[in-house]
Amino acid sequence: MNTSNGRKIIYPFDEWQIKETEFNIGTNYRNETIFTTANGYMGMRGNLEEGYSGPENTTFNAVYINGFYEEYDIDYPEGGYGLAQKGQAMVKVADARMVKLMIDDEPLDLLKGKIRSYERILHMKKGTVERNFTWESPGGRIVDVSIKRMVSLTRPHLAFIFFSVVPVNFDGQLKFISLINGDIQNSRYDKKDVEKDVRVGAGIEGKVFRTIKTVADNTMGFMVQETNRSGFKLACAVEHKISCGLDHSVLTEAKGDMVRVDITVKASKGKCYNLSKYISYYTSRDDVENIEESAINEVSRAKQDGIKVMEDEQKNFLEAFWDDADIVVEGDAAAEQGIRYSLFSLLQSAGRDKKTGIAAKGLTGEGYGGQYFWDTEIYMLPFFIYTRPETAKNLLLQRYRTLDAARARALELGHKGALFPWRTIDGPECSAYFPAGTAQYHINADIVYAIKQYVKATQDQEFLYNFGAEIIFETARFWQDLGSYILLKGNKFCINCVTGPDEYTALVDNNAYTNYMAKMNLEYAVEVAKKIKMERPQLYAALASKIGLKDEEICRWEKAARNMYLPFSEELGIIPQDDSFLYKKKIDIDLIPEDQFPLLLHWHYLNIYRHQLCKQPDVLLLMLLMREKFTPEEIKKNYDYYEPITTHDSSLSPAVFSILAKEIGYDSKAYKYFIQTARMDLDDYNGNTKDGIHAAGMGGTWLAAVFGFGGMKVGDGELCFSPKLPVHWDSMTFKVRYRGRKLLVKVQKSDISFTLMEGDPLKIRCLEEEMFLEKGAMVKKVYISGGHKKCTTAE
Ligand code: BGC
Repeated sequence: MNTSNGRKIIYPFDEWQIKETEFNIGTNYRNETIFTTANGYMGMRGNLEEGYSGPENTTFNAVYINGFYEEYDIDYPEGGYGLAQKGQAMVKVADARMVKLMIDDEPLDLLKGKIRSYERILHMKKGTVERNFTWESPGGRIVDVSIKRMVSLTRPHLAFIFFSVVPVNFDGQLKFISLINGDIQNSRYDKKDVEKDVRVGAGIEGKVFRTIKTVADNTMGFMVQETNRSGFKLACAVEHKISCGLDHSVLTEAKGDMVRVDITVKASKGKCYNLSKYISYYTSRDDVENIEESAINEVSRAKQDGIKVMEDEQKNFLEAFWDDADIVVEGDAAAEQGIRYSLFSLLQSAGRDKKTGIAAKGLTGEGYGGQYFWDTEIYMLPFFIYTRPETAKNLLLQRYRTLDAARARALELGHKGALFPWRTIDGPECSAYFPAGTAQYHINADIVYAIKQYVKATQDQEFLYNFGAEIIFETARFWQDLGSYILLKGNKFCINCVTGPDEYTALVDNNAYTNYMAKMNLEYAVEVAKKIKMERPQLYAALASKIGLKDEEICRWEKAARNMYLPFSEELGIIPQDDSFLYKKKIDIDLIPEDQFPLLLHWHYLNIYRHQLCKQPDVLLLMLLMREKFTPEEIKKNYDYYEPITTHDSSLSPAVFSILAKEIGYDSKAYKYFIQTARMDLDDYNGNTKDGIHAAGMGGTWLAAVFGFGGMKVGDGELCFSPKLPVHWDSMTFKVRYRGRKLLVKVQKSDISFTLMEGDPLKIRCLEEEMFLEKGAMVKKVYISGGHKKCTTAE
């Protein structure tokens, strides 16, 4: 069977599992990404516990902590005022996953001897990765090995490894060598590779940690390290439990950058020998007094509780997660697996501590430096808003936390208000290429758009008043300062010299996406200011005084929004991407040889910028985000114009095309783009899954299912649905949280039903008709594809 990109299927379709059926050097690197275990705080790539002796370019060993970064200088041979000077990159931390196994005098090594059977499974219900294999050593000793790894979703600082060995044909000695390896070299990538492909890493080289302390005490060990430049501390503790009978000895050692616990067992044929290794990380970015003590306490508590307790916690957590987040598709196993892997990966990637966000590659790789982009607000947040609003809020609070840095950046660039960085971990702009970095001012409005969606869906006024409003005002202030009234444009408010979402077009005037979004930002600021002033005058007075906000300024926002220049081409009847876009040479991308893609790696930017070429949707994304403003005819006209000139060189692209294609009746395209985003990493669509997942595309998967095939829209506070399933799907069922309610939606070939599971009665709109939902009762609407029958039944 073939995958969505026509290659041989990599992982057998399975609803709740991702399975590797044979061990292979050629696929090892990619599988390290796919089998990452993470919990939003830490991420462990799927490297083998016992070690890997294959060639260096077939593996990338890493444990990450979200938001734990080292600083680096950004070097510009020719400098310029206001260019970002210092970068922040998520770095690999001390590796506590290692448990080598000596079988008498032979090390377990899958690249030697003979693998008699092998499987590795990611269980998305259990939240574990398990490897089961039978291996015969070069000396003929056969062992059954089973290794389970879990990164706890309920205890953010904790992971465990459960290592189990059965000698099949011998009596002898087994020695588990458990390590914390603090000798971590950051980026073994050739710097030139990183310069060529920014999607691979951040270019931090060498060793960034100094070891401050190592201790080994019987079965426990720990290490404290400090980064050279950012000055962060990290504590890593491990504790072990052996369940191999009494006949074992323990030897521990702490030296240099290494902590080692050796457990030796006299083993008999047919008996099972188990080692549990508990691992904890804390860093000085966490809110605890003593990171050392916290890590030690964490592993001691885990050892006391044992594996079973933690597995149950994990299962319960995931049961609740799937109960909120799952999308059940009947009739398409490939889609089902892709959707679940996407949602599971989003869960694994999202910071939940108000300090961390979602890195472009989650916690699976260090491409894009582990930094946060607009990917979070525009592509991933909707999933959390409608399934786990608390996580959405925490992600937005992470932005609030960096508001001071955004104010400082605006000031540095000579502007009022706040300018959020295009890419960052902890606040400062880290983008070294300003035309596709700082110039993407739209990030400001993207954040505000996300706040607006969050507030609309949750009615969390306290968040709006105490945090959201300040961001909304400071960004409105920025837009008002950035733009100007241009006489020859009818004295309209223009925003010049910006880059929109499409990174194949840069530094242009009046990018439509930016102008529409800035207008929304300004209008929302006016609306929110009026609302708070009326509802909470004291709070408003305090905020206004904090940021020096006067009524005249709000009038200026109103005026700028009213007069915003919104480009439209009368000749073509479409929205031009910007003032100059339609005057560039058109190019037939079908004539560009396959091996030239992605263009960013093969063409000079000037040659890209000179053409009507899009890396990703820009006008079309605008139409998706503001669907209420555009008719299907308008969407179709723009879709037909922009689709043929879009290369989809960005993984953010297909989801948007899928949703809009469904909207305008391009059904087979809707599915083609959907499956591309849903299985982007499982089918290794872009051939770079090894460097990490495409987290934004995974958020796009949820969008394309729920906003696309489910046709969900949130108009002026009213939930609306206009579904249409791919022809071969029997049904799609999903749940949404909305204003304190939980709603179950089931779309079938000819009807759609809604069940209000939690909360007060709710009025929704389905296919233009109002429907009233009450708790517990299912309401069904019959429709026929392409239209709908007026027939509503309550059961
Ligand atoms: C895309 C950006 C995105 C970044 C990180 C780039 O390739 O063009 O829109 O924010 O990747 O995912």
